Amino acid sequence: MPNFESSFSRISTIKQKWKNYKFRVHISVAMHGYDKALRIDPWAAEKYENYAEIMEKFGIERFDFSLPNMHRLLRRGIVFGHRDFGRIYRAINRGGRFAILTGLSPSGKMHLGHKMVIEQVIYYQGLGADVFIAVADLEAYAIRGIPLEKSEKIAREEYVANYIALGLGEKNCQVYYQSKRQEVKNLAMFMGDKVNLSEMQAIYGFSGDTSTAHLMTPMIQVGDILHVQLEKFGGPRPTLVPVGIDQDPHIRLTRDLVGRHRVYSVIKQDVGVGVFVKGEGDAKKLIELAKDVLSSAYKEFEVNLPYRALYVRDAENVEEVSEILMECEKRVNPLAFYMPSSTYHQLMTGITGGKMSSSDERSAIFLSDGPDILRKKVMNALTGGAVSAEEQRRIGGKPEKCTIYELYLYHLIEDDDELEKIYRECRGGERLCGQCKKEALQYLEEMIADIAEKRKWAMDAIDDYVRGD
Ligand code: TRP
Ligand code: SF4
Repeated sequence: MPNFESSFSRISTIKQKWKNYKFRVHISVAMHGYDKALRIDPWAAEKYENYAEIMEKFGIERFDFSLPNMHRLLRRGIVFGHRDFGRIYRAINRGGRFAILTGLSPSGKMHLGHKMVIEQVIYYQGLGADVFIAVADLEAYAIRGIPLEKSEKIAREEYVANYIALGLGEKNCQVYYQSKRQEVKNLAMFMGDKVNLSEMQAIYGFSGDTSTAHLMTPMIQVGDILHVQLEKFGGPRPTLVPVGIDQDPHIRLTRDLVGRHRVYSVIKQDVGVGVFVKGEGDAKKLIELAKDVLSSAYKEFEVNLPYRALYVRDAENVEEVSEILMECEKRVNPLAFYMPSSTYHQLMTGITGGKMSSSDERSAIFLSDGPDILRKKVMNALTGGAVSAEEQRRIGGKPEKCTIYELYLYHLIEDDDELEKIYRECRGGERLCGQCKKEALQYLEEMIADIAEKRKWAMDAIDDYVRGD
């Protein structure tokens, strides 16, 4: 669960008030006894809470950007980390093109955790992103044996209908199926030539009894992420993949493979930046081309043909050189991609604790839950309350350990001041759980009823979003 003090402090930096809090990423050390070399398993129903440790180990940076009309999930620090978001940030600020891609796993009903992802997508759509949504039907088949037709039905009626109800626009938006998109599968094959079995084992913990179908799913996801940069789908451009931390292994793999398929590699030198031509290509021609393109920004070049190198002595920033070099990369390399960027949001806690998951009916709040079920779930929710009302009045509650508070923070309260008030009242013992749950339930019922209402007409619009190829 997030550190709420830190959420407030983030909001405060944005609003320039409450200046005294310091940003701290929530640390709950050794929650899972991470001796096993800290590996993230995308298929485990595990809730990773040691975010600081994961960020440190895998080189994820703190999300600290200020964007227009920032979505509550972003401004409250629920989206806590990123890779290369700067590229997206620059695109947004320059009015440049960018894409956003997410995937849905059609394995069950849509719950509040899923809602968080699509809300971010809708937010970025509002900032001009081209939207792609993968129905991960091949993955569902490989891992859970779900037939493609069943995935299709679930994706349409359970997910896409809700996406539309939540406000996903049809302009520049396409929902596609992994199984039907040839380019995704081809890219899985083309990109897969530069990663071997040992590496797949190291990243995912695959072993001798992992099925070959399962083994292929990460490469399909690489195909999902990169295909949006093929000419047919809009060409090379910055691409954002907003995910839960559990998906980071796929992001790392994709980014590694983009680098390995580059014709040019760019490396910082003692003086300036070196551009090297990899592989078999005609070094002389490729260096000429690079020099030509880079001369728009730099002046001092030095060529070393035996080293297949072009030194740009008056350059300093590797990123900047790489960015400009994409121009020639695109011309000479059919597999030229911008490094995809990613953001990471905290996974939602189930109402009875643990990760909110479709496979745990009691713990997940589904967008299709009726009032009776909602009431039951909320009333049985795990709170941060004390053992008795008297005790709670005396020592206060613990909102940071409370799933009801998490509902407020993630979904129910838009206004930051109102949220802060709930937080303070809880901590101060003025707010008691019974009443607090009732209030949460009321907000939740309203929200769910609103979505249900909109879902009715959304059903008729599904075909405007879903592509057959
Ligand atoms: N593997 C993702 C999940 O289990 C779904 C997915 C498929 C995805 N392709 C993707 C997510 C591309 C992000 C980007 O939820
Ligand atoms: Fe949670 Fe509300 Fe109880 Fe505080 S008062 S612990 S926020 S249910």
